[in-house]
Amino acid sequence: MTTDWPTDNKFLRGPFTPWTEENEAYDLEVQGEIPADLAGALFRTFGNPRFQPRNTDRYHWWEGDGMVCGIYLREGKAAYRTRWVDTDSMKIEVQAGEAVYSGFVNGGTPGRLPDGAPPAKNVANTNVGVFDDRLLVYYEGGLPYAMDPETLKTFGTYDFHGGIDILCTAHYKIDPDSGDMLFFAATGPTITWYRADAKTAEIIESHSFDIGVPVLMHDFAVSDHYAVFFGSEKPTHGPTGVLAADSPQLTVL
Ligand SMILES: [Fe+2]
Repeated sequence: MTTDWPTDNKFLRGPFTPWTEENEAYDLEVQGEIPADLAGALFRTFGNPRFQPRNTDRYHWWEGDGMVCGIYLREGKAAYRTRWVDTDSMKIEVQAGEAVYSGFVNGGTPGRLPDGAPPAKNVANTNVGVFDDRLLVYYEGGLPYAMDPETLKTFGTYDFHGGIDILCTAHYKIDPDSGDMLFFAATGPTITWYRADAKTAEIIESHSFDIGVPVLMHDFAVSDHYAVFFGSEKPTHGPTGVLAADSPQLTVL
C-alpha cells in the first residue's frame, strides 16, 4: 500500500512513493528457473519514511527511514521479506504515532522529543551487508544497526564489540585475502581507519589522523599498502538542498 500525502515533492511521488507496510511472501512466481543448488540472499536498504514528514515539501530522499528488503533463494524457490530498521529514533516516532524529527535539509519544525530520545535521527538507509553473522545496516551519521539476516528483526546498534563509538562510513571494503572489513570514521577533522577481524569482528588495527578541517567524507580506496581518502572540506547547502563542497584534498595513509 502506498501513501497519498499531498505534495509535489518528487522524492515522495512516482518511483519514490513510500510503501506503508512490512511484507513477506513465499514461493514467489519465477520466470525461468532458479538452479536447485543456488542458495543465498540479496539484501538492500532504502529510504522509506514511515510517517508523513513534518514538511513534505522539504523532505529529501536521504532522510527516509531505512527499510531492508531481503530476497531469499533456496531449493529452487524464492521468498521475500521487508522490515523497517527498528532504530531508537524510529521507536520514538512509532510511540508518538507521527514524525517527530525534522529532516536535515530544513524539513520542518522538530516535534517535542521525550527525555532520553536520540537528538538526531539514525535512518539506517545507506548500505547493508552481512558481517559477524549479522546483517549490518549502515548510516554515515551514526552507528550501524544489526539485524537477524533471516527474520530481519532489529537487534540494536552495532559497534564491533566496543571497537567504535560514534559513527562509521557506509562504504566499507572487504579484504579479499583475509575477509577482514576495512572502513573508516570521519568525526570532525579526525579520520580513523579500522580493520575488523573476519572471524571475531574485533577491531585489530586502527590509525587516526587529523586533516585540519571537518569533512563530509563518503568513500575511500584501499590497496595492499595504502588507504586513500578524498577530503571535501567546507560542505555547504546548495540551492537544491544537495550538499556541495570545494577545496578538495587527497590524503594517503
Ligand atoms: Fe556515502
